[in-house]
This record gives sequence, C-alpha cells and structure tokens, in this order.
Amino acid sequence: MTLKTNITEMFGVKHPIANAAMGPFRTTEMAIAVAEAGGLGMISHANQSMDGREIDAIVAMKKNLDYVVEHTDGIFGFNIRTSRNTINCDNLISETAKHIMGNPKLKEQCLYALTSAGSASRMPQNKDFQKLRENSQVKHFHVAPALWLADKCVAAGCDGLVVTGFEGGGHQSYEKVGGIVLLQQVQQKHPDIPKIACGGYATGDGMAAALSIGAGGIAMGSRFIASKDAEFHENYKNVIPPAKAQDTIVRTGGLGTIRLWKNKFSLAKGLVKTKEEKMAEEQALRDHRTVISQEELREELRRDAIAGFAAYEGDVENGYVLLGQSIGIINKIESISDIIENVIKGAEKALKKAITYVG
Ligand SMILES: Cc1cc2nc3c(=O)[nH]c(=O)nc-3n(C[C@H](O)[C@H](O)[C@H](O)COP(=O)(O)O)c2cc1C
Repeated sequence: MTLKTNITEMFGVKHPIANAAMGPFRTTEMAIAVAEAGGLGMISHANQSMDGREIDAIVAMKKNLDYVVEHTDGIFGFNIRTSRNTINCDNLISETAKHIMGNPKLKEQCLYALTSAGSASRMPQNKDFQKLRENSQVKHFHVAPALWLADKCVAAGCDGLVVTGFEGGGHQSYEKVGGIVLLQQVQQKHPDIPKIACGGYATGDGMAAALSIGAGGIAMGSRFIASKDAEFHENYKNVIPPAKAQDTIVRTGGLGTIRLWKNKFSLAKGLVKTKEEKMAEEQALRDHRTVISQEELREELRRDAIAGFAAYEGDVENGYVLLGQSIGIINKIESISDIIENVIKGAEKALKKAITYVG
C-alpha cells in the first residue's frame, strides 16, 4: 500500500517524505538514501568549511548535485538559504539552475528547489531559474515558519510550502508557533497550495496527523540524523535515542533563533533575542552604525559553524547540536529505508483507524 497525495503526484515519488534541509552539513548520502527509498531527497546548503571559513557554495552545490545524481535514479532537490547574509546568493541560484539545465539526468531527477531563511521571491525572480522552470518539472518551495511568511511565499508564486513549526531543530521563527497550529493557520488561509509539514515529525502517527490537517507530505530532520545512512558522527546520532523531548533549548545564533540539544555549549550561549533586537542589529548594520558590525556578525556565524562542525564531527559536549523536540519520540537508529517504511506503515494504520470514527 502507498499513500497518494498532492506531493507524490507533483514529484512522481512513491512516498511523500523528504529529508529536511540541514546545512551547512553534508546530507548527500542521506539524500541518496531517501531518494532510493522512494522519498524526496534533499541536498543541504553548503557554504562553510569545518573551520568556519566561507567556501565557494557554487562549487559545493555542483559537486553535491553531481554526486547524488550519479548514485540514484530517484527524485531529489537542493536547498539555498536566501538570507541577506548569504554571499553571492543570486549567483548561486543562477549557477545551480544552469548546472541542472546542462545535465539531462539532473533535469529529470532534481525537481525540488527549496529556499529558506530569507526572501521567497529571490529564486522565482532569477532569470536562470525561470528558464529551468520553463524547461523542466522543477517545483519551487519555500520554508514558512510563520503565517505571514506563508503569505509572502504565496504572493511570490511558490509551488508549495514547507510549513515548519517551532518544535523543529535548527533555525526557527521568532513567532514561536507550534506546527499543529501553524499548519491549521496556513491551511485556513491557503487551502490549495501544496504543503510539506516539518518540525516534530518522526512517526507514522505524526504523519497521519499532518496529512489530516492539510499537508501532502512531511519532512524530517532529527529522525533522519538518527539513521545508519546519515553522515553525522555516531556521537551526534547517539544523543538522539536516549534523549527526551524536553532536552532541547532555543537560543540566538548568527541567523536568528535556533533549537539545540541542551549541552555545555548551548546552555552557555545567549538567550533568545527578540525579533526587534535582532532587526535593530541588522538595521544598524545597514546604517553603518555599530550596534553590531558586519565583522561581528560574520564572526558570530563563523563561531556557530565551527561549533556546528565540531558536533557533526563528534564533539557533542562542546559543539552546536542542532536537534528538534522530536528527539523525544525517536527510539532507535535505523536505516533510512526502514524509517520510511515504518513511518508510512504507521501513517496508513493511523489513517485507517481514524476513518472508522466517521459514521
Ligand atoms: C542540523 C540541522 C541543520 C539545519 N540546517 C538548515 C538549513 O540549512 N536550512 C533550513 O532551511 N533548515 C535547516 N534546519 C531545519 C530543518 O530543515 C528542519 O526544519 C528541522 O530539522 C525539522 O525539525 P525535526 O528535526 O524535528 O525534524 C536544520 C536543522 C538541523 C537539525
């Protein structure tokens, strides 16, 4: 049995499950495993090296796209973070689109263009991406962690939304709205746009809930980190099965609010700044005032990346362990094909049970 939704239809995939974008870390093996299992694989945005230096994101993107397409015949996509701090963002979009156009196998399989952490219109306004869109089946989704952002995505002409609730790991919205309410808000206002629910999903029951309130699929981050196929260090994976849902904390990083596993590093890090405080810092930067300088912001991003890579490479006490509240419902490290099969089976069972309530 399979679940047929607007997401399986749109992408021609067997299962409406994607791995979440998890830059700046390498998720190419994860993307391959998800695509091979019939889901939607995701290549994350790579723009930093292990020592926090900025690397050429265009070179990294092309290499990752080539690697994934050489290792699977499944469907996958890529993430580009369109925040003001993303260096060379428009070039990255152009070069990525041109690279896909230049390889027929990529054009067939790389169908999921996901932007996040910035403007939803940057990709659709890009001429090279427009060309790709006209000449392939590629679909553009943007991450919407708040209703007002979903409005912007719809206005920007996105093909779909990744609706991400505050339970999720990594960067989160200042709005702090949980996924169940956010998805209903977006569903009320934009019932027709395809939605992938994200943040807090790890089980078939969770997937059934998301599909019942308007999503056509789910994306999972923490659940796929705790897999045999993920590139993350074993120590990072081994944080997850014993952890409780309350073992994460929200702090402020270079790009805004982030959800982290509670450890020495995150407990010592600053509390969440308000959106106004963070906006004031950014405005000051644009006005060339000195609340926080461009150098300080870059330094903060560099420190975040160093600490993130430290954890990715195994130092989970002194590093930045991005994880969501879903760690409290993940009990085993499994292969990605087993995870997908179990989540689908669980969702089918829950949905079949739910239909018996209708009388
Ligand atoms: C290690 C890690 C890195 C992340 N990096 C990104 C990123 O580069 N771009 C992005 O849109 N979201 C990023 N996120 C957020 C995820 O895409 C997703 O929203 C989150 O993992 C969902 O919550 P879950 O972990 O409970 O599944 C990251 C999350 C994690 C855990």
